Amino acid sequence: MPALRLIFLSFLVGVWAAACGTDGRRPLPTPDLLSSGTGFRQAAVVCAHPLAAKAGRLALLFGGNAVDAAVAVHFALAVVYPNAGNLGGGGFMMYRPAAGQVYCLDFREVAPQAAHRTLFLDNKGRPVPGLSTETALAAGVPGSVAGLAEAHRRFGRLPWYWLLKPAVHLAEKGFPVTARQAEELNENAPLFRERNPKCPPFVAPRPEGWQAGDTLRQPELARALLGLAQEGPSCFYTGWIADSLEAWMRAHGGLITRADLQAYRPVWRRPLHVLLDTLDLWAPPPPSAGGLSVLQMLRLQSLLRWPPQSLHHPEMVWRYCHAAHLAFEDRYLYAADPDHLPVPVELLLDSAYLLRRYRTLELHRFAPWPGRGSAAFHESTTHFSIADAEGGLLALTTTLNDSYGSRLCVCGAGFLLNNEMDDFSVAPGVKNLYGLPGSPRNAVAPGRRMVSSMAPILVERRGRPFLAVGTPGGTTIVSTLYLTLYWTLVLNQPLEAFHSQKRYHYQALPDVLFHEEGAWSDSLAGRLRTMGLVLRSRAPIGRMDGLQRRDGLWYAAPDPRGDDAAEGF
Ligand code: GLY
Repeated sequence: MPALRLIFLSFLVGVWAAACGTDGRRPLPTPDLLSSGTGFRQAAVVCAHPLAAKAGRLALLFGGNAVDAAVAVHFALAVVYPNAGNLGGGGFMMYRPAAGQVYCLDFREVAPQAAHRTLFLDNKGRPVPGLSTETALAAGVPGSVAGLAEAHRRFGRLPWYWLLKPAVHLAEKGFPVTARQAEELNENAPLFRERNPKCPPFVAPRPEGWQAGDTLRQPELARALLGLAQEGPSCFYTGWIADSLEAWMRAHGGLITRADLQAYRPVWRRPLHVLLDTLDLWAPPPPSAGGLSVLQMLRLQSLLRWPPQSLHHPEMVWRYCHAAHLAFEDRYLYAADPDHLPVPVELLLDSAYLLRRYRTLELHRFAPWPGRGSAAFHESTTHFSIADAEGGLLALTTTLNDSYGSRLCVCGAGFLLNNEMDDFSVAPGVKNLYGLPGSPRNAVAPGRRMVSSMAPILVERRGRPFLAVGTPGGTTIVSTLYLTLYWTLVLNQPLEAFHSQKRYHYQALPDVLFHEEGAWSDSLAGRLRTMGLVLRSRAPIGRMDGLQRRDGLWYAAPDPRGDDAAEGF
């Protein structure tokens, strides 16, 4: 097939050029540049790393649909974006093929069969620090390989093997780390060394650490990817990778067995849907709580007919905080794995319910959640959006939970393990990595999926594909997506221009409005304080990578807060 060879060659040339010619620094685009955007006539992909975007473009160019491209992007990210790209994690995919029905695939990790409610507590019932984040016990049974394989089985068109080839190549030959990656890998080197008996490839081979442009090779991961490419997902769940993972778990005091891997199944779920005027919004249902929260907040916005106001207008911020408070409180009260406990999603999106809840909240502002709490934020997780040439649209968010997961690397197979078990409630009231208090409904139980904030979202306008959006950021996912959708759907602004807006986040516990540096002028900040809000600035929030259809083009909006990139044609 000469065309195939030509396209693959062009990809290799791209990889080669990147290896030789960039120091990985990407200056922050100015707001003007951002709002001019890049429009693609037929197909587009936007994700956390330029080389993964190229892998997606290649699949689209070769006639693949959005699911084919998602397979190529996902496995390329597992190599070039080890913070969150993964074989050892899980996620959610929303897909609207050209025919129009919207599908949701849940490939969230599950607790191993040997897991139990008190797994992370000592014999006095107190949480053991680090057990749910830094040890072999922190890993849920990975769902990503099964998820991507299931999406491909149902919708894919190009050969699975071919779609994984770029990832195999990037792992084997290596890729140039960006300046940001060099810094993050160097910061994490002590943890990689401390937690792994055999030093993983993420630690620089020389004492001064990584520098932008250095080549990161992952031979063990290349072997695992080649196994997956040749044998399919069985290699991971019943083949030699399953053997390696089980042996590794036994040696490190973990719980995951071959039986757990063999039993893992991704689940097609009925997506959540909200109709707002001419807009149809689609999001994953529980165990994603993020989708539900964003839709609750947007529905409230519409029911209460809040007037369109700039993102930083004090009244807008005040209403947002109330809506977020409601959403995070409902998450605590109701979110769970729906295969284990019923979650009343219809009620939670019902107009009368939302209005009643909101009015009560306005009367007793922020009263019901006692405690001060704190929140740490991690820009782990990653999201990509894809539009294909035949009219399909896809949004996929995937994660290892913390950046690089537990930093534990499976010997022989070269992939990092998630620490998703921390997303369970370790004990009632005990907070997870993102400061959320544990709810009894989200307790650890064998075979259960832990509640997630991940929320890839698709929007149709008058029945036609209009937006695909998503972001990392733990609990801040909810706020970044609410603000993105408010910006594009209520204020009718271009998606790309959203990136120059300073973001903010409120999750009720702690009772603090976190914001990016410079979000408000002194006088506006003063007004917010007189309204009773406590402000605290923090590092940049989220990496929203989305696509918007305007004037017959797909506009890609890679977030300049990371090394994110778009490709298309
Ligand atoms: N691990 C982050 C989340 O799923 O919300």
